[in-house]
Amino acid sequence: MSRKIVIRGGKPLFGEINISGAKNAAVAIVPAAMLVEGVCRLENIPNIVDVMAQLEIVRGFGASVRFVNPTTVEIDSTHINLSHPPFELMRKLRASYYTIGVLLSRFHRAEVAMPGGCNFGGARPIDLHIKGFETLGAETAIREGGFICVEAKNGLKGRNIFLDVVSVGATMNIMLAAVLAEGQTVIENAAKEPHIVDLANFLNAMGAEVRGAGTDVIKIVGVEKLHGGSYTIIPDQIEAGTYMAAVTATGGSLLIKNIIPRHLECISAKLVEMGAEVEYFDDSVRVSRSGPLHKTNIKTLPYPGFPTDMQPQLAVPLCLTEEGASVITEGVWESRYRYVDELRKMGADIHVDGKVAVINSVPRLSGAPVKASDLRAGAAMIIAGLAATGETSVEEIVHIERGYDNIVGKLQAVGADIRYMEDAPDGAARVG
Ligand code: EPZ
Repeated sequence: MSRKIVIRGGKPLFGEINISGAKNAAVAIVPAAMLVEGVCRLENIPNIVDVMAQLEIVRGFGASVRFVNPTTVEIDSTHINLSHPPFELMRKLRASYYTIGVLLSRFHRAEVAMPGGCNFGGARPIDLHIKGFETLGAETAIREGGFICVEAKNGLKGRNIFLDVVSVGATMNIMLAAVLAEGQTVIENAAKEPHIVDLANFLNAMGAEVRGAGTDVIKIVGVEKLHGGSYTIIPDQIEAGTYMAAVTATGGSLLIKNIIPRHLECISAKLVEMGAEVEYFDDSVRVSRSGPLHKTNIKTLPYPGFPTDMQPQLAVPLCLTEEGASVITEGVWESRYRYVDELRKMGADIHVDGKVAVINSVPRLSGAPVKASDLRAGAAMIIAGLAATGETSVEEIVHIERGYDNIVGKLQAVGADIRYMEDAPDGAARVG
């Protein structure tokens, strides 16, 4: 039985949506709990596949994982060991590579299966992670079968590391490897995303000494060991941005709650250019659109620039502007336009040349059967279905469930005609 999402579009969205914990913070903080010989209590955990997979991975290393309630988990890593690494689980998601930094930090060695994750069209190397580990004193090797082996026979010693490319994953992984190293590590040209700051705040809550997260120079002074404690994960900037883009595409008015305004300014600035109205409150934002959509240009950049993880979602309203052509330039990844073929099935007029997409406005998008080629492309398909006339079915929705907590339920609650549909083996469709 395969499950798909079916949408009847053309309805404006009205109501309130609560944002869940940040995926890209949680997928780093969960493995980071294995640095602690004790219990870490994590609150505001999103119920998404990638975070559940990380929890299974830490269980695979011998940690005990107990859900206190649907969004609060206690992880006890007192007795973790390297005897049975859950290799197959690691292959399923890119963020599994954070276990390298964690295990190298705690045990001075690690063997991890090469990570998986979204394939949105470009290379996803980890050379900067390896460079960081080797600078701190580890030796690394790629073992047959796709395993990365790292070992620091003489322990890890703090050093200065300059990242040639601003990398979220490398910044986080080096931070994880440095928190128990001897002496100070300085990461220069560090990534500044909100989830970087969240990981640093979590580590400091457990007794680490990480300073400067959120700037491009992060200093980590190694400590003897970390202690247990509690930490609340920040709200998801990209989940919030996705719903902001949805109501901009469909029209209507949404109050999006449990957000951090400054994390969304890079997104709302663009939506205002496109004709949305945005009003911030302490921990919520109202996004409305009743007038025409206007063209604009977008270049994705590391934070605080426009986030690459919002690029597919914004391409949808840009298909429906009142006039002219909009240009998207992908400034982070080699390419991130696999979703364009799917949008073309709905009537979009988009031309892609390498990192640049030129979007010509069309009078409407029409519902069609489409696929979610990766996580954010899947979100874009849902937004397109909501804005299109007629019925859209989105297949391969496992990608969407990796990063969005209850997206169908949250959209139903604000008036969207969206539901799961099971495709039975006999081809009959049943509402799921
Ligand atoms: C994180 O991926 C996010 N994933 C991605 O979000 C996001 O698109 C990306 O950061 C950029 O913000 C998670 O946090 C789990 P990078 P990551 O290292 O860490 C190059 C989503 O939709 N690079 O910041 O893998 C790389 O090729 C996902 O939630 C190297 O050259 O991204 C890219 O061009 C998709 N060598 C640039 O750096 C390296 O060793 C940024 O990559 C590492 C990266």
